[in-house]
Amino acid sequence: MMMGRRDGLMRNTSSSHQSFRASRIAVAIGIGVFMGCVFAFLYPNGFFHYDVPIASTHFSKSKLQTSSSDCEANERISILKADIVRLTQKNAELSKQVRELNEKLRLAEQGKDTAEKQFLALGEQPKAGPFGTVKSLRTNPPVKPDESVNPRLAKILQNIAVRKELVVVLANSNVKDMLDVQISTIKKAGIPNYLVVALDDEIENYCKSRNVSVYTRDPDKGIDSIGKSGGNHAVSGLKFHILREFLQLGYSILLSDVDIVYIQNPFDHLYRDSDVESMTDGHNNMTAYGYNDVFDEPAMGWARYAHTMRIWVYNSGFFYIRPTIPSIELLDRVADRLSKEDAWDQAVFNEVLFFPSHPGYEGLHASRRTMDFYAFMNSKVLFKTVRKDPNLKKLKPVIVHVNYHPDKLPRMQAIVEYYLNGKQDALDPFPVGSE
Ligand SMILES: *[C@@H]1O[C@H](CO)[C@@H](O)[C@H](O)[C@H]1NC(C)=O
Ligand SMILES: *[C@@H]1O[C@H](CO)[C@@H](O)[C@H](O)[C@H]1NC(C)=O
Repeated sequence: MMMGRRDGLMRNTSSSHQSFRASRIAVAIGIGVFMGCVFAFLYPNGFFHYDVPIASTHFSKSKLQTSSSDCEANERISILKADIVRLTQKNAELSKQVRELNEKLRLAEQGKDTAEKQFLALGEQPKAGPFGTVKSLRTNPPVKPDESVNPRLAKILQNIAVRKELVVVLANSNVKDMLDVQISTIKKAGIPNYLVVALDDEIENYCKSRNVSVYTRDPDKGIDSIGKSGGNHAVSGLKFHILREFLQLGYSILLSDVDIVYIQNPFDHLYRDSDVESMTDGHNNMTAYGYNDVFDEPAMGWARYAHTMRIWVYNSGFFYIRPTIPSIELLDRVADRLSKEDAWDQAVFNEVLFFPSHPGYEGLHASRRTMDFYAFMNSKVLFKTVRKDPNLKKLKPVIVHVNYHPDKLPRMQAIVEYYLNGKQDALDPFPVGSE
């Protein structure tokens, strides 16, 4: 039913209202024109107007300005903050870079130093051999002899050294009696390469009278005044200065104090594999060659035992020193320290030889060998142990050093009697220590 009616209507539109439709179009056009005129009058700038009214524009603009200055201040603060952060970071970065540069510089210096030393020591880059076959360097190469250092001494040494080695002893007239005993034993043991460095005229003349090679230092050199008047320790400092020239000339030196008796030729009993080969103040295997000394601190409980490395000092009155860079550095360092501190030369000698590198200190790291304490015997070993032991009594030492006893001369004479003249009871009257 609904469909029928609609159909009817449509049909009606097309048939009975044709003329009315035409007039309706004319009216619509008229309304359109009229409306166009009205709108043209009301909205002369166009119907879609984007301009904001002036008052409103002004208001929002001033509001915008206020909020913009707040914003800018905030913005500036945050920019400044960012700048501070950036500069702080940059500063940290810079100090880091400075630190790194310093570190690099230090490493470079060290590297150069090490490289130079390695080059001097090895001359080549070695490959490690198989397990158990590698052996580190302990016999450093000798320095190139430099005769210009002291041509006069060079000439003397040319005449008396044997295989570029000799015994050197410093003496002033205070020790003439002991020197006399020593020279007798040197002659008896048949040691031709023996030189006395005379620190005064009396000793020079005495040596000449006994047909012993003698060297007198250039009297213009200031340090010799120490030798003439100085006590034992001052002379000890001087000897490190004097020895340097011997090494620079390319000689290996067996430095000897005067309170030493020679029983055999020491050059037949050296190893010559180290920068320094020294007699020891030790008196048995442990003290002479080193041991693990356990220090007890009960308060530490579980960790109460602290292990320490110990060795009795090397005797700076009798050592063999090869002409190497570490040896010369040793002499320089000891002499330098003795010139600045009131120290015992033997303590300084040992500290320089043994203390490792640590913060603020660069260790020497010269190679060292401890001499056999029965062959190169100190007077403690002799008077405390050897003379009371039937087997040890039969041993013939190379030298005996009366370092532990103040009554040096009579003990030296007794040692000569016992070992060189066969007087079996010569050592008996002496106490073990001094009284
Ligand atoms: C002195 O020593 C030299 C060489 O060392 C030797 O040829 C000479 O015979 C010695 N003279 C005396 C008097 O001992
Ligand atoms: C000391 O060491 C030597 C060599 O290593 C050894 O022959 C000797 O028996 C040792 N002496 C003692 C008392 O241990």
